[in-house]
Amino acid sequence: MPAMKIKEIVKNIKEIDFGRVEDKVVLLRVDLNSSVKDGKLIRSPRIVGHFRTIKKFIDHKAKVVVLAHQGRKGRDDFISLEQHKAVLEQMLGQSIGFCKWDDDYVSKIKSLTPGQALILENTRFLDFETNELSEDEHSKNPLIQRIASVSNFFVLDALSVSHRGHASVVGFIPLLESYAGPLLYEELKALAKLSKIKGKYTLVLGGMKPDDSIAIMEKLLVMGKANKILLGGGLGEMALIAEGIKLGSKEQMLKEKGLLDFLPKLKEIMQKHEKKLLLPVDLAIERHTLREELLIKDLPVNEMTFDIGERTAEIYSREIKKAKSVIANGPVGKFESELFAFGTRKVLEAMASSKGFSLIGGGDTVTALGRLGFKESEFSHVSLAGKALLELISGERLFGLEALAKANKRN
Ligand code: 3PG
Repeated sequence: MPAMKIKEIVKNIKEIDFGRVEDKVVLLRVDLNSSVKDGKLIRSPRIVGHFRTIKKFIDHKAKVVVLAHQGRKGRDDFISLEQHKAVLEQMLGQSIGFCKWDDDYVSKIKSLTPGQALILENTRFLDFETNELSEDEHSKNPLIQRIASVSNFFVLDALSVSHRGHASVVGFIPLLESYAGPLLYEELKALAKLSKIKGKYTLVLGGMKPDDSIAIMEKLLVMGKANKILLGGGLGEMALIAEGIKLGSKEQMLKEKGLLDFLPKLKEIMQKHEKKLLLPVDLAIERHTLREELLIKDLPVNEMTFDIGERTAEIYSREIKKAKSVIANGPVGKFESELFAFGTRKVLEAMASSKGFSLIGGGDTVTALGRLGFKESEFSHVSLAGKALLELISGERLFGLEALAKANKRN
């Protein structure tokens, strides 16, 4: 099935009518997925955005059942949602119920009273959650059916998960009246208006999700949409390794995390599209509590590399300023640390001061923007979605949105 265009999606998806939710059980799929440092959840713009939706349902006296995931299996950020619950409770000023997957979730949902919320445990703790299946296949799952049997509406409120054909994203849609939440709906309306991303654009890609980044990078290059891709963060370092450069400790760390498994594909793309890809020419490390920069020729190094260096930042800034449209997804360095926020700050500064169209996407990138003192209004559009946004722009199918559009015809 060909992918639907943004305008077509917006036309076919309806926003939940808050006038109908009083006393009703609303299954609300949000995206609370945020950075985790030493096991501690970092409060993110995503949590703030979704808190507003949860509050709106509570204010309209719905019985809210929150569905969300955190991290990926096998990674350090794969933790319970108990900390998310605590953060949301603090923001809401009221307590929220919590339900593990071996608790009696049906009884807990049934016992909700109007204006109460219950958060279900990390959906990715369920083995079947991340199977990429159609909505009809997921809807046959007994757990999905049991939860649906005690619920009235399903609401998807996160563009950032809508590219996944995961159980909690699509599985309830065939079983319940299903709608978009306000955050998703507003974002789709804003994106439908962004006619300026028509031509070719410059892409800044960073972060630590090479599987997604590499796939989308290839797609955009093959389609001829990306004119230049500026690589930073873990992805930039992987590209250096793919070129045969030895990084030292960081390379070992990337290997231990299994990220070097993606090198052959990355190498293949780099060989085909060499002229369009820019790699870091210098990197930053910490030595005696200070930032120190190293040219690529001075690698490998015992210390971990944490940021692009000043020369790379200058080259990337120049590219950004001369581009008509720039899309950034994924920080180019460890922005959480003041020593290594430099590269990400420079990229954002260049985007904010450019006269062209600037689109920022992704949970970490939006967190960086706030942390480094930028305002959303300095950019053409800021999205909480990262890879989903790039997939939407590149014309990929977004399974959650397609399922919602189908449900709308049925509603
Ligand atoms: C994201 O962070 O982009 C969303 O939460 C989706 O997470 P995923 O890439 O692990 O599916």
